[in-house]
Amino acid sequence: MLAIDFIRDEPGPFHWRMGVRPLDLNKWLVKDARFEADLAELRLQLAERRAEIIYCEKGSEIACAEIYAAIRAHCSISGAETFVPVGAGIIEAARLVVQEDLCVMTRKNGFWAMTACAVAFPTSWDVQSKFGRGLDEIHEPVPRYSKDLSKSMNVFFDRLRAEAPVWRSNRTLSDRSSLRLEPSTRTQEAETEITINNVGDRVFLRVEYQTLRKFPISDSVLFTIRILQQPLRDLLDEPVALRSLVRGLAQMPSDIAHYKRGTSNYEKLIAEWAKESGLEIS
Ligand code: HEM
Repeated sequence: MLAIDFIRDEPGPFHWRMGVRPLDLNKWLVKDARFEADLAELRLQLAERRAEIIYCEKGSEIACAEIYAAIRAHCSISGAETFVPVGAGIIEAARLVVQEDLCVMTRKNGFWAMTACAVAFPTSWDVQSKFGRGLDEIHEPVPRYSKDLSKSMNVFFDRLRAEAPVWRSNRTLSDRSSLRLEPSTRTQEAETEITINNVGDRVFLRVEYQTLRKFPISDSVLFTIRILQQPLRDLLDEPVALRSLVRGLAQMPSDIAHYKRGTSNYEKLIAEWAKESGLEIS
C-alpha cells in the first residue's frame, strides 16, 4: 500500500467529500516493511508525551476491550488469557501491535464522541484538544465542514453497520517526513531553501488511510488512521497521479489553501517542477 495509490482526480468545484468505500477486512490493519521503524517511533513518542497520545474515559472500557480483542484476532496474536490490560492500558496495548493510530467513537449525549484514543502521529492537529469531543467539535478548525460534511457524517455514524466497514483517505503535502506532525506545521511558511531543483526530494505526499468499523457489543466505531508517505519524486513515474495532484492543488479555494498552508505553500513550485519534468497538465 503506497501513498501514490490514493491519488485520484477530484473534478471541481472543490468540496469535501465523505468518499467512503467498502473495506475488505484484509486491508483493515496493514503490516508492511516499515512495521519495526513505525513501532520504534511510537514507543519513543509514548515515552516522551504519553498524556498527549493516550486517552480513555470512564465508560469506554468495554469498547476498548472489544476492539483490542478484534485487533489481536486480526493480527493472529494469541495468549490474551495470560495478560489482559485494564483501563487506559487497553487502548495503548492495542496501539502497540499495529501501525495505525486508533480513535474510539461512542455515542454520548446524542453525539458521536471520541471516548478513547491512541494517536501518536497526527497530521498537524492537537490530539489532546479532541479528547472526549464530538464529531462537530473535533472538526471545528476545518473550513466548510459544517456545510459539506456535518449532517452526512452524523447520519453515516448512526447507520454504519458492523458487517459493512469502510475506508477513506485524506491527502496532504509536507516538507517534513516525520510521522508525527505538530499543530504548528499546519500554518508553517514555505522553506526558502526548497527550490525547483530539490522539491521532488524535499516535499512529501502524506496520505492518511482511514478505516471505520462498527463494533456491535459496545455499539462503538473504531476510526483508524495510517500514515503513508512518499517523496514527490516518486510521482514522476506515475504521470496520471502527478497530473491529478497538480490539478487538485490548483483548484484549492483560498479558505482551504489557508487551512492547509503546509500543502498549498509549494503549489506553484510543484506545478513548475512537474512541467519541467515533461508533464502536460491541461
Ligand atoms: C467518515 C468520516 C470522516 C470524514 C468524512 C472526515 C472528514 C475530514 C476532512 C475532510 C478533514 C479535513 C482534511 C484535510 O485537512 O484535508 C478532516 C480533518 C480532521 N478529522 Fe475527520 N473525518 C471523518 C472522521 C473523523 C473521525 C472519526 C475523527 C476522530 C478523531 C476525525 C478527526 C479529524 C481531525 C482531528 C481533523 C483535523 C482537524 C484539525 O485541523 O484540528 N475525523 N476530517
